[in-house]
Amino acid sequence: MFRKIKGTRDVLSPEVESWTLLETRARNLFQRFGYSEIRPPAMEWTELFARGIGEATDIVEKEMYSFSDSQGRSVSLRPEATAGIVRAFIENKLYAGPLPKKLFTIGPMFRHERPQKGRFRQFHQIDVEVFGDPGPAVDAELIAMGHLYFCELGLGSLALLINSLGCPACRPEYRSALLGYLTSHRERLCKDCRRRLDTNPLRILDCKVPTCNEVVVDAPSSLDHLCMDCGDHFSDLKRRLDAIGIPYRVNPRLVRGLDYYSRTAFELVTTQLGAQDAVMGGGRYDGLVELFGGPPTPAIGFAIGMERLHLLVGDFAPVKPPDLYVAALGPSAMQRSFTLVHNLRSAGISVDSSYENKSLKSQMKHADRLQARFVCIIGDAEMETGRVVLRNMQNKEQMEIDLAGIAEQLEPLLTPE
Ligand code: HAM
Repeated sequence: MFRKIKGTRDVLSPEVESWTLLETRARNLFQRFGYSEIRPPAMEWTELFARGIGEATDIVEKEMYSFSDSQGRSVSLRPEATAGIVRAFIENKLYAGPLPKKLFTIGPMFRHERPQKGRFRQFHQIDVEVFGDPGPAVDAELIAMGHLYFCELGLGSLALLINSLGCPACRPEYRSALLGYLTSHRERLCKDCRRRLDTNPLRILDCKVPTCNEVVVDAPSSLDHLCMDCGDHFSDLKRRLDAIGIPYRVNPRLVRGLDYYSRTAFELVTTQLGAQDAVMGGGRYDGLVELFGGPPTPAIGFAIGMERLHLLVGDFAPVKPPDLYVAALGPSAMQRSFTLVHNLRSAGISVDSSYENKSLKSQMKHADRLQARFVCIIGDAEMETGRVVLRNMQNKEQMEIDLAGIAEQLEPLLTPE
């Protein structure tokens, strides 16, 4: 027997109905904010991710599912959506249309991480990106949209953490201040972080090892090293969040696991998921479009993890049972029922029935297990008179109706529950 690959999941009913509803709500909300959908491919050239996300990130160093195509060129399953959307933005010359361009996508991502609660190797993101506006108004609007999404799901109390990571003008100074501090505490850092001193010292701020945590408490803060423009940008963002009543906490240790960020970075975190506490993460990446060969275009975005979101909301969407179960008894009734079922489905009614000539008892049991709202039984007598008994499976009431006009007679009874 085949078993699923470690770190992947089969999303089954009733969970899948909640996923669908979460996606529908996201689509509706994003539309209110002027976003349109994009469906980029699930695989790209490995180089795109390596350059975009950063060679020295965990994702690129050890988490990508990469393979060679028949020409020997390395392809990777996308570990995230941003790099692919930036590629699509440039390749399709979306920059030539009206800006800002607001895009979203929903789909699977792949990272070869150690599976645990809320962490999978195939997981799903609701991802949002805005291209073409450098101002903090877009940052605030984007964060507000994410916040509203969670509020509408009854998750308004999740903690929003924000930080500014500076820009190419001020980051080098911060980086060297941080490096100086961390190097002086080198011996207390874990093995990985000692290596990060050479490759990616900012990531050390995010290390979960307790001794590293202790070192990091007194590390210099990026906020103390922002240039004037970055400082103004961050203050304006905070003012705007205050103005629309979105609570946040400034966390100067918030660094993200991807290297493309500049200025605003943010996460929505919860205490309910253990170590995997981030449900949404994002930030500004003003240099990425240019890095990929496009015109200089500021951009910002975020992604929500579907699996983690579902862990928080649980199964909340109704599973829709069939409106009607047609129980047919005997070969000619079975034949009549085959046409009837098709006609009812064409008329928009959800119908189930048995494909085999089974006993009434077994068909009623089937209808029960499917939780059908109504059942009608067609036997020889019903075929002759053209009248059938319609049974309401909830209140057990029965009524006799015309077989011919069954769709019309059912319709008013099927008002949403
Ligand atoms: P990220 O922080 O790597 O950012 O991922 C965003 C969210 O995806 C996380 O907060 C988490 O909910 C979910 N997630 C990440 N990895 C896993 C996993 N292995 N299993 C389950 N859920 C996971 C990005 O991916 C950026 N591209 C976000 C972004 C968009 N920044 C700008 N635009």
